[in-house]
Amino acid sequence: MVSDPIIREGKLGTRVDLGKLEDIFSKHPERNNTNLVIPVLQEIQQIYGYLPAEALKKMSRHFNIPLSHIYGVATFYAQFSLEPRGKNLIKLCQGTACHIRGGKEVLKAVENLLGIGHKGTTSDFKFSLEVVRCLGTCFLAPVMMINRNYYGKLTPEKVRQILKSY
Ligand code: FES
Repeated sequence: MVSDPIIREGKLGTRVDLGKLEDIFSKHPERNNTNLVIPVLQEIQQIYGYLPAEALKKMSRHFNIPLSHIYGVATFYAQFSLEPRGKNLIKLCQGTACHIRGGKEVLKAVENLLGIGHKGTTSDFKFSLEVVRCLGTCFLAPVMMINRNYYGKLTPEKVRQILKSY
């Protein structure tokens, strides 16, 4: 009997199709090679938008790499998320330059508009918000990124217009 590759996990009961993992695994024939962990995690996250716990268990078994090592990597790097993320990832800067140029008001506006805290995901999974320390574009302060797009010299009103466009 073939088991159903689609499982539900997490408190939100997110649908996860583990069948997609075979495509990733088949690209990496090596076993016991911890150098594979980062690239494979990146590919898993690209497909699912985060790192489902069941996918990590399967990855551990397939590559014969301890699950504790995989979790160690997944939790060390900020690029990885163990929770489902929204379709659009907002990275809002609260570094010094952004903070002194109104970043706090901008953050409050985003939180109020989305109805979430400074690290959270909207219930419709449209947006996730992350507060970061510097986006490397201090001359645009206060600044945020949505996916790969930068938005600078933000005000609460400007933020409202930008979010509306998504
Ligand atoms: S402090 Fe915000 S971009 Fe540098």
